[in-house]
Formats: sequence, C-alpha cells, structure tokens
Amino acid sequence: MLLGTQEINAAGRLEIGGCDVTRLAAEFGTPLYVMDEALIRENCRAYRAAFESRYPKNVICYASKAFLTTAVCRIVEEEGLNIDVASLGELHVALRAGFPKKRINLHGNNKSRQELEMAVKSRIGHVVIDNMLEIEMLAAVCREAGKSIEVLVRCTPGVDPHTHKFISTGQADTKFGLNIRDGSALAGIRRILEIPALRFDGIHCHVGSQLLDTEAHEGAVDAVVGLMQDIRRETGVLCNVLNIGGGLGVRYRSEHAPPSYDEFAEVITSRLKAGLDAAGLPWPILQQEPGRSIVGEAGVTLYTAGVVKTVPVTEAPGKRTYVVVDGGLSDNPRPQLYDAVYEIVVANKASEPHDQTVTVAGKHCETDVLIWDVKAPRIEPGDTIAVQTTGAYNYVMASNYNKFLRPAVVLVNDGNADLIVERESLADLVKRDLVPQRLQKKPHRGRRNTDSMTDAAVVIDR
Ligand code: LLP
Repeated sequence: MLLGTQEINAAGRLEIGGCDVTRLAAEFGTPLYVMDEALIRENCRAYRAAFESRYPKNVICYASKAFLTTAVCRIVEEEGLNIDVASLGELHVALRAGFPKKRINLHGNNKSRQELEMAVKSRIGHVVIDNMLEIEMLAAVCREAGKSIEVLVRCTPGVDPHTHKFISTGQADTKFGLNIRDGSALAGIRRILEIPALRFDGIHCHVGSQLLDTEAHEGAVDAVVGLMQDIRRETGVLCNVLNIGGGLGVRYRSEHAPPSYDEFAEVITSRLKAGLDAAGLPWPILQQEPGRSIVGEAGVTLYTAGVVKTVPVTEAPGKRTYVVVDGGLSDNPRPQLYDAVYEIVVANKASEPHDQTVTVAGKHCETDVLIWDVKAPRIEPGDTIAVQTTGAYNYVMASNYNKFLRPAVVLVNDGNADLIVERESLADLVKRDLVPQRLQKKPHRGRRNTDSMTDAAVVIDR
C-alpha cells in the first residue's frame, strides 16, 4: 500500500514528497515522524470540495488533536479550514501560530476556568458547551470580562458507532455532551438562552472516530434534526450552525476501505437536506471536524531495525521472527490502547518481495509490539522501516516512557524536507526535574565536583 506522494524510486527505495526516506532517516535520525504536506493539502481540498459541491454553507474545522504543530496550523489556515482545539495547550498553540481567532472552536468535557477565560479574552469563534456546569462557569467568565461569546451545545445523539470502545462517543452512556433523548440538551439550551452573554449559535455532536461506514453519522443526523425541531418548537429559536464532528476512518491496512470523501459527503448531505426539508427547517451552516482523515495517511514513522530474533511460538508449532526497532510504545501507544494495526514498507528495500512474516516490536521494557505478523522483505539490522498511516494521534500522543526522547517531525514536499519539531534532547528530559535542598548531593571534601549528578549534568550540557 503506497499512500499520498509515496513512490518507489529507480534505486528501489521509498520516496515521500520527492525525498528519499532512507536519507531522511540518516539525516534526521530515527525514530522520525515524516509528514507529507501535499497529501495534507489534498485532503483538505478534497474534503472541502466534497461538501461544497453538495451543500451551500460549509465550514470544515480541522480537529487539531490529531496532529498539532505551528506548521500544520499554517497549512490548514492556508487551505481555508477552521480549527478545533480541545485544551488550553491546543488553544495556545493555535493562537501563537496566529490562527484567525474567529475561526477557532474550543472543545472539552471539563473545561477549566483558565480555558474559558482564554477563549473569551481571545474572542474565539465558538465555545462548544458540554455540560450544565460549564454554562454557569462561562456566564461568570463573560460577566467578569464584560464580554459575550458565541456557543454551540454538544449533544449526545444516542447512536453506537461500532468502533473501539475508547473512541466511541455517540452512545448515551458517555461522559461527553448533553443527552438529546432524556431532555438534557434542550434544558441546557433553554438555560443558555436566558444568559445574554452566551449567544446560542447551534448544536454539535461527534459520534466516534475511525468509522469505516456512515451508519452512525446517519443516525446522528436524524437525531440532531429532531433536536433542532424541538428547539424551534419549545423556544422559537433556529440553529444557525450544525456541527456533526469528525470520525471518518483511514486506511491503516490495504484491506481497510473507509468511505471516500464524496461517498461520505453524499450520504451526510442528502440525509441532512431531506430531514431539514421534511421538518420545514432552514438549512444551517454545516460544520465538520475531521482530524484523522486529514492527516492520518499523510504520516509515516521511520525506525531503524536492530535486533532480529526468531523464537518458537507458544500456542502453535512454528516460529516467530521479531524485528526490534528503536522506538515503540513511547512514539506510538495506539496498538496497546486501541488494538491498532499497521503495515510497513522497508524503505531501503521497497521493491523487494514481501516473502517473510515478521513481528515488529519496540524497545521498551514491556511487550510493546507495534505490528504482529506482518508481511515484509528480509529485514536486517540497519534497515529503515516505515510504519504507514501514523500521521494522526501518534506524535501528539508520544510520551517519555522509559525516558525516551520524543522524535522529531519532518515535513516533506516537492523534494524539500523541513524540520517542524526538533527531537527532544537529554537536557529536555531533565529541564523540569527539581531536587529539594535536602536531597542534593554535597561535594566531597578534597574532590572536585566528581559526584555523579554533576557528571550527568556535564554529559547533558554537551
Ligand atoms: N471532534 C471531536 C469533538 C472529537 O472528540 C474528535 C476526536 C474529532 C472531532 C476528530 O475525530 P477524527 O476525525 O480524528 O476521527 N486517540 C484516538 C482518537 C481519539 C479521537 C478523539 N476525538 C486514536 O488514536 O485513535
């Protein structure tokens, strides 16, 4: 499976964005996240075009939780998308990137006062209200600031998206949003309408992530149109905006077949238009929040193969070959969290036959298998392994487990490779590490600063 601008060059090596991936690994080191700028841009355009050709009023908000750096803010802004942020940190990155404030939506199911204050002070586009407590908190923040803000209300449509439990949000039993069926959503909206500083602009729902069919979205569209009718009947108010979240899946493996943007847009818009017309409701602005489907397939993670080990299989006769790479759980926790699956390309052997089955494992102090039993060419230590479709929810979920250094991110396009996030250094690992006075090492009498902590500092400073 080759994605985006990926190609195999005359030397039989993988290229992305016109850059030889094996050379990127040598130049920037591994593990390395590589992002294909042309594919991100193409996805933004295709998503927009699919909806704009079918529905008159669209706003596509990139769900920045999938992959957020300053450079990606610039790209999605240039492509005419808005942005959705879900924390103080994400909001800070977007604001610092100079993203137009009015084009930012703030999410969160337990927003802090600080988050709400930053949103109000910055006059962002919408706060997406999740719960009753937040209504009162936001009202108080607005009162103190002497400002008002536009809000959407996140509601729970009560549909099961049939995806991994940890990324399902549309069902009634969820921590997110206000339930439509039990009347909580309408009650929240009534309360908002009593508060002049909160300008009710519409409703929001998000049913889940990595969805490979449109069933849950269809159910959600029906539920929100029903709510829009209730709002009009009970309050006389019309929704200016309907945000139906993100969720469209991507190809982690060749056999995955998510709907195309056109198929997705066709189902959503035809269902929505039919529902609105039947209810006699005017067509609201349709907002979407795709994350994974914009950046997922645009990313690969490069590793260098190390130990290759063949061992007997426990449950059945046979052997398993482990290829151990120089990263793992700390740069990609998704296999452990969501049973995620992937494919690989051995970048320096991209045209060799895949006649082996290997298990790609990480180097953390636990069984951090990245991919079980995947087809590959014969792998030797030093080979560059590219794990496909790691553009979404990998860099942003990386950790320092086992005190690993978080990898660098390189953006490739048209033969250029630009570092957009530096690799962490050993100094970064300890820069917030403090030692109380009573635990500090005292220099030995007669010895000159040779205690281990000072030695470590010397190593780090280099
Ligand atoms: N809007 C809201 C309110 C969301 O909660 C999410 C994702 C999105 C939009 C974007 O959904 P997408 O288009 O990316 O499916 N860490 C998990 C994914 C968590 C998704 C959380 N919310 C993973 O690695 O699969």
